[in-house]
Amino acid sequence: MNPEQLRSHQWYGTDGLRSFSHRARTRQLGYLPEEHLGKPVIAILNTWSDINPCHVHLRDRAQAVKRGVWQAGGFPLEFPVSTLSETFQKPTPMLYRNMLAMETEELLRSYPVDGAVLMGGCDKSTPALLMGAATVDLPTVFVPAGPMLPGHWRGEVLGSGTDMWKYWDDKRAGLIGDCEMAELESGLARSPGHCMTMGTASTLTAAAEALGVTMPGASSIPAVDSGHDRMAAASGMRIVDLVRQDLKLSRILTPEAYEDAVTTVLGLGGSTNAVIHLIAMAGRSGVTLTLDDFDRIARTVPVLANLRPGGRHLMEDFHFAGGLPGFLSRITDLLHLDRPTVAHPTMREQLDGALVHDDDVIRPRDNPLAREGGVAVLRGNLCPDGAVIKHIAAEPHLLKHTGPAVVFDDYRTMQRTINDPDLGITRDHVLVLRGAGPKGGPGMPEYGMLPIPDHLLKQGVRDMVRISDARMSGTSYGACVLHIAPESYVGGPLALVRTGDPITLDVQARTLHLDVPEAELARRRAEWTPPPPRYGRGYGALYSEQITQADTGCDFAFLARKGEVPDPYAG
Ligand code: FES
Ligand code: MG
Repeated sequence: MNPEQLRSHQWYGTDGLRSFSHRARTRQLGYLPEEHLGKPVIAILNTWSDINPCHVHLRDRAQAVKRGVWQAGGFPLEFPVSTLSETFQKPTPMLYRNMLAMETEELLRSYPVDGAVLMGGCDKSTPALLMGAATVDLPTVFVPAGPMLPGHWRGEVLGSGTDMWKYWDDKRAGLIGDCEMAELESGLARSPGHCMTMGTASTLTAAAEALGVTMPGASSIPAVDSGHDRMAAASGMRIVDLVRQDLKLSRILTPEAYEDAVTTVLGLGGSTNAVIHLIAMAGRSGVTLTLDDFDRIARTVPVLANLRPGGRHLMEDFHFAGGLPGFLSRITDLLHLDRPTVAHPTMREQLDGALVHDDDVIRPRDNPLAREGGVAVLRGNLCPDGAVIKHIAAEPHLLKHTGPAVVFDDYRTMQRTINDPDLGITRDHVLVLRGAGPKGGPGMPEYGMLPIPDHLLKQGVRDMVRISDARMSGTSYGACVLHIAPESYVGGPLALVRTGDPITLDVQARTLHLDVPEAELARRRAEWTPPPPRYGRGYGALYSEQITQADTGCDFAFLARKGEVPDPYAG
């Protein structure tokens, strides 16, 4: 591609007043014309923030990307974009995933950008950045933030999230005290980087690598490893080449790439959140991906990654065991190998020479952690549009279970009352939380791993059947049926359940059933009144109007729909 064909040429290279002004203002930025004119302009979208420990290293890491871009003859410009911190942002960063997707899309379109490097990794950042970039369809490389180092405490290795839930339950059961908890506070998360279990962050960055939008092996490099700097620099070099070749993101994000991402997520025993995000991302790529695709593929893919919360190890172990290339090398028969990636003409070449160095971390095919992928899609009169369960992270005896419902109308009521002995909750009850879906939550917070009541914890109960229209953290575990669609807030059947109703879960049969006669349900439906709107104005009101249900990916309807957006006139 010659310089006149660059998109940015319209801003810098024409004879008009506008180009004169853009060149003058770039001199104002301190650049000589020969430093940038005619070079591919690379936007580095950085989700760094002081409040986001998963991305706090990205402020420096952007310098490595810039180094790579300069080396390859490009002109890097960093754009700070919204940070989505899983830990700090309330009610949930899921409320803001589509906002970052919009910001990504609009920044890339409205500025003189020829190619993009996207930096992020904490849960929703990866899908948000890729949804926006897929819509604009410039050459794009994703730089995953990288997992934090493993936690340590009194000789135990700790996984962020997963062990937080575990030890919090131990404290509630009276097994450990304040002193231990204070030590755990320092031990759980000991370096910058995203959660180092196979939680949502690691699942989505692995999916990005499987899609082919990262450098090979990028997704498992620990955030503070020098290799992460080198990967960032390599990504900077690579994006300049991609612009010169005009290799747009749509050439990478094909139906085959999305199938392979689903295969990867399932074979890793990854987070249930990936179901929603991959469906939304695929939608932005014009690719139809459904819940049924996940269930179909799950039946063909064994879980080979022995990583918490489903298994034993952490992301650093996975990295040294061969990382994603090693993992993918074990399932090549299940992948589409003749599709391009940002780094290689084909995925086949990308995986050439990939090896596994530890058979306990990345299991061989004849010794899987589970014979089928970790996520099952359920249907039934409680979830006509589907629900999901990560059955490998549940106690097996609960996977076929009938029990009476205990219904909580919202999260606060549940928190306030779940330990009330008068509710008479036994280990056989089915805990039901509603009002926690995309509109009701709002934002579908990660409330889906409802707490086990204190008195049952003390009896040693560690898992129960729990069902909700919420999501669950990728680091959580248990027999939790999630993403029930349609949600109760819009009048889905979950809204009709009453305490005492029998509910039957049968994962093998892929069903979730409310054992109440249809005539009685019809009577309850006629009595049901929609709850009042949650927001009177602002982003929340826009969100409530536009958000779609979990089974279609929770994109905004006006963003997901087809239609042209003109490129701005810059001359
Ligand atoms: Fe950011 Fe877990 S809190 S990835
Ligand atoms: Mg999470």
